[in-house]
Amino acid sequence: MQIHDTIESFRAARPTMGRLAFVPTMGNLHDGHIALMTQAAGHADIVAASIFVNRLQFGVGEDFDRYPRTFAEDCQRLEAAGVRHLFAPDESVIYPAPQRYHVAPPAEQTGILEGACRPGHFNGMATVVLKLLLIVQPEVALFGKKDYQQLMVIRNMVRELNVPVEVVPGETVRAADGLALSSRNGYLSTTERAEAPRLHRLLNGIRIALQAGERDIPRLEIEALEELAAHGWQPDYIAVRRRSDLQPPQGDDALVVLAAAKLGGTRLIDNLEI
Ligand code: PAJ
Repeated sequence: MQIHDTIESFRAARPTMGRLAFVPTMGNLHDGHIALMTQAAGHADIVAASIFVNRLQFGVGEDFDRYPRTFAEDCQRLEAAGVRHLFAPDESVIYPAPQRYHVAPPAEQTGILEGACRPGHFNGMATVVLKLLLIVQPEVALFGKKDYQQLMVIRNMVRELNVPVEVVPGETVRAADGLALSSRNGYLSTTERAEAPRLHRLLNGIRIALQAGERDIPRLEIEALEELAAHGWQPDYIAVRRRSDLQPPQGDDALVVLAAAKLGGTRLIDNLEI
């Protein structure tokens, strides 16, 4: 695997890569990231990944400084997964000067769910993803459904800004007990880790109830929020939304249930398509 820490180095190698599939990450790679790499190989001649912990998408008081950085292990996992090029720039490469031009996703997205809980997050995320796509210039880019709203924002950005890339979604990879894999799971204590799968269990309960014909969505949401609070969580939201734009459902839209909640000092998110 070739490691590029400058834009010039990546750009110089790009013509040798043929049809390229790209998986951007913030590192501390787990099986969810690796599944995207493997999936990517089915879409192109060569797979490239990036590792960049993007300060711009972290809010004040969030975990930018303590976000786990495990570069050597990450490189081994990427090699083993057949990734041929890694773009791993320093902050001085991506932000040589303060970033003054930003991608501002619409208020319909920044005002709801993750956007409402994390002001500025999608602005910072979309800005770095556009920069990475312009640097790497892949034919295909893969993003996990674990970050459902992120995937939607990226899809809309790519469509509305005519970015010449195909966005491919990857299914959420979970631990055996249902907990969605996340770099942030490493923050959990042993007791918190044992409690954490409740989030997925509750989402699954809502899915089963809706599939069985339950129509009282507010009741399902409130009961799940109460159960989280009763077990020491601080929930941000549990919301049944339509998949297409994450707005409240009307009629027989295809649905997804999304959740975010803090367990101790760790904020977890998850979702399930109904
Ligand atoms: P990061 O959290 O490192 O995730 C990188 C990619 O892996 C994202 O597309 C994310 O949705 C996917 N992913 C994370 N956990 C997953 C799981 N359990 N199963 C399947 N896919 C999973 O998301 C980001 O980084 C950043 O916001 C980024 C897009 C790189 C921009 O900075």
